[in-house]
Amino acid sequence: TQPPREQWTGQVGFILSAIGSAVGLGNIWRFPGVAYENGGGAFLVPYLIALLTAGIPILLLDYAIGHRFRGSAPLAFRRLHRGLEPLGWLQVAISFVITVYYAAIIAWALSFMVFSVNLAWGEDAQSFFLADYLQVGDPTLTGAFVPGVLIPMIIVWVAAIAVLARGVAKGLQRLNVIAIPLLLVVFLAIVVRALFLEGAMDGLNALFTPDWGALGDPGVWVAAYGQVFFSLSIAFGIMITYSSYRRRRSNLTSPGLVVAFANSSFEILAGIGVFAALGFLAAAQGVGISELEGISGPILSFVTFPTIIAEMPGGAIFGVLFFGALTVAGFTSLLSILQVTSSALQDKFGWSPRAAAVRVGVVSAVISLALFSTTSGLLALDTADQWSNNIGIVASAVAMTVALFWVLRQGETLRAHLNAVSTVRVGRWWMWCLGLLTPLVLGYMLISRLWTLATQGYEGLPTWYLLTLGWGVVAFLVVAAFVMTAIRWRRDPDDFTPWPA
Ligand code: PHE
Ligand code: NA
Repeated sequence: TQPPREQWTGQVGFILSAIGSAVGLGNIWRFPGVAYENGGGAFLVPYLIALLTAGIPILLLDYAIGHRFRGSAPLAFRRLHRGLEPLGWLQVAISFVITVYYAAIIAWALSFMVFSVNLAWGEDAQSFFLADYLQVGDPTLTGAFVPGVLIPMIIVWVAAIAVLARGVAKGLQRLNVIAIPLLLVVFLAIVVRALFLEGAMDGLNALFTPDWGALGDPGVWVAAYGQVFFSLSIAFGIMITYSSYRRRRSNLTSPGLVVAFANSSFEILAGIGVFAALGFLAAAQGVGISELEGISGPILSFVTFPTIIAEMPGGAIFGVLFFGALTVAGFTSLLSILQVTSSALQDKFGWSPRAAAVRVGVVSAVISLALFSTTSGLLALDTADQWSNNIGIVASAVAMTVALFWVLRQGETLRAHLNAVSTVRVGRWWMWCLGLLTPLVLGYMLISRLWTLATQGYEGLPTWYLLTLGWGVVAFLVVAAFVMTAIRWRRDPDDFTPWPA
C-alpha cells in the first residue's frame, strides 16, 4: 500500500508556499517590461481577462487534480486516467528543464547582492555583467567554466537541496512562512524608496499611459496570456504537487483566489517600482523613457538596475535589498519547481522525500553547473527558456484542457470536487473557460509561436544551435515523458480512493 503522504501543517503554510512559488522573476523583471511594450495601462485589460478566463481557472484545475488524486503530476494524471500519465511526465520534464536554468539566475542575483556593497560594477554596468562577470563567449555548448558564477551556483544548489531534503512541512513550508512576509516588506520598502526618486512620476506615466490601439493586436493578447501562465506557475505540475499535500478537508478555491490576487498585486507593485526607477534613470541621463534600453529580463536586473543603483543616493543599501529580494523570490520558486520532480520520483520509485531531494538535486545541479556556469551560459539560458516556457507550458495547458474537458469529460467531476471542499463555489463559467475559451486561445498561441520559431528562428542564432538547445529541448520533453511512463510503478498507483469519498 501507499505510505502516508506528506502534508502542510495548515492553510497558511500552503498559501504562503504557493505565493512563494508564484512570486518570482516573472513578477519582477518580466511583468513591467511586458506591460510597457504591450499597451501600457491598456495592457491591464487583456491581463485581467487572461487572469480571469485562464489563469485562475487553470490554477483551480491544478488544485482540484492534485487534491482529489493526491499525487505528483504523473501519479495524479495516471489516477485520473491511465492514458494521461505521459502528460504528467511532460510537466515534470518541463519543470526539470526550467529548474536547471532558473538556478543560474538566482546565483547571479546572489552575486550582485554582494557586488552592491561596494558598487563593484563601476561605470560600465553592461560590460561588467556580460564581459567581467558572465564572461560571455561564443554560442557553443562547451564554454569554459566561470568561477565567479560557479561558486554562487553551488551555494544555491546546496541550499535548495538542504531545504528540500527536510520535507514539505519542515523544509518548504517553514522557509516560505518566514521568507514570503519578509520579501513583501522589503519589496515594499524598495518600491516606496523608488517612488521618491526624481523622475519617478514620468516613469509611472510611461508605464500606465494606455495605448488603447494595442488591444486590436493579437500579439498583445498572446503576451497577456503568456505572462499570466508563467507568473502563476500553472500547467507545469507545481500547483498539482503542492495541492497534493493538502489535507482531506481543505478549502481550495479561496486560497486560489488569495494566491492569484497576491501574485498580481506583487506584479503591479514591481511595475511601479521598476518604472519609477527607470524614470529616475531617464531623468539622470537626460533622455526620454522610450529611449532607454534593457527594460526587461536579465539586462533590466543586471545592467539597468546596477546603473540606477550607482546613480542614486544610498544606492548600496538599495542594491543589497533589491538583489536580496530577487534572490529570495527566485529561490522560493526554484524550490517549488524542484519539488515537482522530487515528488514524482518519490511516487514512482518509492523513494523517501530526503533521498529524492538529494538525488534530484544533485543531478539537476550537475547539469545546471555544466550548462550555465560557462561562458556560453547566458545564451543557452535564453534559448532553453524560449522553448520550454513559450512552447512547453502552453502545449501542456492545451493538452490538459483538451484531454480533460473534450476527451475524458472530467470537467464536471472536478468542479464538483472543488465545490465539495471549498467555501467559494465555482460556477459553470469555469466549464466554459476551460472547455472552450482556453483551449482555443492557447491553441492559437501555440501554433503562432511554433510557426514564428520555425520560420524565423530565434535571435539570429545558428540552426545547429537551435536544433540542439531549442527543438532538442522539445524532443527531450517528449521522449522523457514516454520513457518515464514505460517504467513500472514501485507501488500500485491505483490503490486509492479519490477525495472526497
Ligand atoms: N511564477 C514564477 C515567476 O513568476 C515562475 C516560475 C515558478 C518559474 C517556478 C519557475 C519555477 O517568476
Ligand atoms: Na509570478
